[in-house]
This record gives sequence, structure tokens and C-alpha cells, in this order.
Amino acid sequence: MKIRVFDSARSAGLYAASLMEAVILREDNPVLGLATGGTVLPCYQAFRGLVWCGLDLSRTTTINLDEYIGLDAQHPQSYHYFMEHNLFAGLPSRPRAVHIPDGTAGDLERECARYDDLIHRNPIDFQLLGIGTNGHIGFNEPSHSLLSRTHVVSLTEETIASNARFFERVEDVPRRALTMGVQSILQARQIVLMAFGRAKADVVARAVQGEVRTDLPATMLQLHRDVTFILDVDSASALPREVWGGHAVLSDASDGPEPGPLLSRS
Ligand code: F6R
Repeated sequence: MKIRVFDSARSAGLYAASLMEAVILREDNPVLGLATGGTVLPCYQAFRGLVWCGLDLSRTTTINLDEYIGLDAQHPQSYHYFMEHNLFAGLPSRPRAVHIPDGTAGDLERECARYDDLIHRNPIDFQLLGIGTNGHIGFNEPSHSLLSRTHVVSLTEETIASNARFFERVEDVPRRALTMGVQSILQARQIVLMAFGRAKADVVARAVQGEVRTDLPATMLQLHRDVTFILDVDSASALPREVWGGHAVLSDASDGPEPGPLLSRS
């Protein structure tokens, strides 16, 4: 597991975007597994900059982790809407296919099977993740057991409370979602988890160093051979410094409004 700690979410976002760019440049038919939420926004902002600078997405397929049940693609809090408005809108180049689970499907079991088949036919090269304060990845919530494949999940009170910030009222947060399973996530060739802020510090430390347990799903990432945690100083604050591997805090060393050059591509 690699840990990279940055002095700002913007620098961290640039770094994550550069890793996505490297996959797109390397693979003939790149497949990116994508996430939603506040944490990935700096990455998506930087990635949009790369596309505006000429990065070609026309060979790329994207597969999102999850979607709320009951929200259609036009609903401003749906993950369909999130992806269009925060990543794809107005870009000079678009992915050849964008896949997000359909939370309005009449037959949800069938939709899960369709999604698994899609993942099977398009093995994920690079999986981007955020992490819930309860340790969820995708919407794989803490539980006594974890499901490997795409499934319907009941969101925990902690996740509902945390995601209420995107809705007018907490009652408006859907109680259920479709999510890719843990095995599908672990089958990605490369995994990058982003986390920012002090509220994530404890869960990040447990995900990196704690026992591997189903009631903290992010600990499963310890079982994968190519995982990078991209953190800011606050989310890394509960990790002993030696766990960073002696790395300095990374910065793009730019105070201006435009993204500065990337520090590291290793
Ligand atoms: C969303 C997802 C979730 C979020 C997590 C963190 O597609 O997969 O696991 O990554 O809930 O959300 P934020 O970034 O809003 O703190």
C-alpha cells in the first residue's frame, strides 16, 4: 500500500487525476471505475483540465460504483447527475461509454446482474474510491458479512446523516442504494482511495493499519497489491509518520488559482 500525503485537496486532486491520465495513455481500451461525493471533486476538476489540454477520452469506458434507488438521472442528487455535472459536462472529448447503476430499474436484482456482467466484460484498470466515516467503500456498509457482487444495500444512519448535506432535508436522502460489491472493487488492477479532513483521520488510520474486518469494509483494501491512499495532512493525522514511508508532505507549490505542475507521477 502506498500513502501519499498532500498539503491541499487541490494538489491531491491533481495527483489523482494524473494517475487516471496515465491509465488512459497506457491502455488501449482503458476502463476507469469512478466514485461520487465531495472528496473526488478536486480530482475531477483537475481531470477536466487535462481533457481540455487534449487528453482523449474516446477509447475510455467508465463504470461508477453506486447509485441511489429511486432517483432518476435528472434528479440533482442522483449520481448520474453528479457525474454529468462534475465530470463530463462540456468536455471536448467524452468517454465512449459511461455506466452507472440504474436506481430506477423495475427489477433491481436483474439490474445488479446486468451490472456484474458489464464489469465482467470490462475489467476495471483503475478504481477511484472515497471512504465513509464508517469505513464504507462504494456503498458497502459495515456489516457482519460483505457481499462480493453488485447488490441492493440499506444505507446506515451514519451514511444517511453524512449525505444529508447534499439534500434539503435528511428525510429526502434515499434509504437504499445499488452498489458494486467488494470483490468487484478488489478485482480492479489498481485502486486509489482519496480522503480529506480530520473527520476521516480515524477511519483512514484503521483502514491502513487496523485488522481486516467486514465491519470496516475499507480494511479489505489491505488485501490488494496495488492500492494508493491519497490524503491531506488532516486525514493522515492519525497515522504514525513512519507509515507514510518517510515521504514529505507533497505540494504543487502554487498559490495561484490555476493548477500548478504536478510534483510526482511515480
Ligand atoms: C460514492 C461512494 C462513497 C463515497 C463516500 C465518501 O460514490 O462510493 O463511498 O466515496 O461516502 O463521500 P464524501 O467524499 O462525500 O465524503
